[in-house]
Amino acid sequence: NWTTGNILEEQVERIRQQVGDSKVICGLSGGVDSAVAAALVQRAVGDQLTCVFVDHGLLREGEAEQVERDFVAATGVNLYVANEQERFQNALAGVSDPETKRKIIGREFIRAFEEAERAIIAQAASEGESIKFLVQGTLYPDVVESGGGEGAANIKSHHNVGGLPEDLQFELVEPLRALFKDEVRAVGAQLGLPQEIVGRQPFPGPGLGIRIVGEVTKERLDLLRKADAIARAELTAAGLDDDVWQMPVVLLADVRSVGVQGDGRTYGHPIVLRPVSSEDAMTADWSRLPYELLARISNRITNEVEGVNRVVLDVTSKPPGTIEWE
Ligand code: XMP
Repeated sequence: NWTTGNILEEQVERIRQQVGDSKVICGLSGGVDSAVAAALVQRAVGDQLTCVFVDHGLLREGEAEQVERDFVAATGVNLYVANEQERFQNALAGVSDPETKRKIIGREFIRAFEEAERAIIAQAASEGESIKFLVQGTLYPDVVESGGGEGAANIKSHHNVGGLPEDLQFELVEPLRALFKDEVRAVGAQLGLPQEIVGRQPFPGPGLGIRIVGEVTKERLDLLRKADAIARAELTAAGLDDDVWQMPVVLLADVRSVGVQGDGRTYGHPIVLRPVSSEDAMTADWSRLPYELLARISNRITNEVEGVNRVVLDVTSKPPGTIEWE
């Protein structure tokens, strides 16, 4: 019978057989799949694995720390952190077009990852070792989808850590290839990964860069991170995490509207809440969240996040809307 325990033991054994005593490299995105894939490989071959985390500065509040501190504490993995926030900000300066932003983020991500790779390869070479394997967190649905061709995935250029171009110098290790998302979460929990990582909602590779409608700047990222953290905390406090597939929080940076706060007139930006229910992200419906929860989120965001004077709710299903705004 196919229990989580079996999956774990079987994959650990397979990884050991495939990798032998070679060195392995793995990219971490902060998401569930790469975290569980890395933790499995770590369980199998320990210090032979080095993980790479490219911090592009487009993650949500607390997520970089969850990788750098909590994931490392839970697994004991060797982690190479590339702090690339400025690089991404510079590359995105002056750019508002969604597809251009996606392409820039994807391109810079690959470059930054390859630079980190080269540094790790050089380090290994200085110890007389080479790196032969690259771990990817490909899931069963990804395997099926990439064979499938057409579909919603092609409407926007998608990018994630699993989507690095085929790097011929490495052989791939794909310990999640036979698994569905819920099995991946179960294996992650069994490996002792923090619930914040294992239970995470889907999050796009280009991160908050495509949740700012308009140019991406440091100030706007900081503002959106605050609003997003409030919305997520209130959703969790209301016990509704499992009822919502994901809840993008979007900053309309190019839109301003008039408001009034204290004795003064404000001219601030709207924040959009986009809670959706879905089975597979191909179609989605907007979540009927309780009015009390929406009111709490709205009050807190407008009171606590300077520059935001309006919170609006997206009541569009997919289709015709996509889940993300860009
Ligand atoms: P859309 O906006 O197309 O999103 O309805 C469908 C699902 O995909 C996620 N998404 C991405 N995931 N890289 C990813 O790994 C991406 O570039 C990307 N863009 C969108 C989105 O969050 C939703 O779950």
